[in-house]
Amino acid sequence: MSFNYKINARTWEGLAQEDALWSILTDDEKAGGNWDIEAFFNAGAKEINTIFAYLEKHHYLPKQFDQALDFGCGVGRLSRFIAQRFEHTIGVDVAATMVQQASKLNADLKDKLSFQHNLEPNLDFVADDSISFIYSSIVLQHIPPQQGMLFIEGFFKKLEKGGLAVFQVPTKDIRQIGMVKKLREKLKIRQKLAVMGLVKGFQMEMNVYKVAEINQLAVKNNCSILAAPYTNHTLPAFNGNLQFLNKAACEDYESQLFIVKK
Ligand SMILES: C[S@@+](CC[C@H](N)C(=O)[O-])C[C@H]1O[C@@H](n2cnc3c(N)ncnc32)[C@H](O)[C@@H]1O
Repeated sequence: MSFNYKINARTWEGLAQEDALWSILTDDEKAGGNWDIEAFFNAGAKEINTIFAYLEKHHYLPKQFDQALDFGCGVGRLSRFIAQRFEHTIGVDVAATMVQQASKLNADLKDKLSFQHNLEPNLDFVADDSISFIYSSIVLQHIPPQQGMLFIEGFFKKLEKGGLAVFQVPTKDIRQIGMVKKLREKLKIRQKLAVMGLVKGFQMEMNVYKVAEINQLAVKNNCSILAAPYTNHTLPAFNGNLQFLNKAACEDYESQLFIVKK
């Protein structure tokens, strides 16, 4: 496991212990444990309904509805609504505390929904060609792309024929920020100090992925990119209120939702 990936895993465990719900949806007004759990899960229902309405409208729905995977599931905000559409759903997360909270908050669905803590930089716990639907929202952006690309390749390998992977990644940083701030972010100094316990407050990192590399991986794994619309996933006020955008309406980051069929 690379050093950067260890920082990613330890940062998310730290964020989960501090305030799991707020680290997932970072509305300033909800910081300090102020998320109402019902409103939080309602935001998940809304996001999944929007996704499936979009897939249906464009005739992109997966061929089968057997097993689904929610990659970077957090406390299961989205998993529980994916689970209502599939025979069985697995939520996977790198942070043990997220997985514990997800299992507790979704205990009512335990026959259809299970959670997996995965510290490995791969999806080897799932069989190849076994998943009908994979979803990942506001996750890969926090994983160093070198590692994140391995997970994306994992999505393609785990899909069964006719299966669908829907995942969001920022594809361009359009923030107007100075070179010093950019360099500081690149070196991840604050993140490193936080995981070493030398400063308080774990820091999320934001990463940008290359569209051409995702295209190449899809071709290599016999998958087709059906669409990659721009969305508002990276806006600070995202809060699960998913919208499809024109590229010109993107702020700070251009973020795309890749819809990939095997
Ligand atoms: C912003 S939260 C989003 C959670 C969930 N997707 C949602 O929208 O409700 C990001 C999640 O990704 C998880 N995560 C970060 N790196 C990961 C990795 N390498 N593997 C799996 N999960 C990861 C974090 O622990 C956290 O739960």
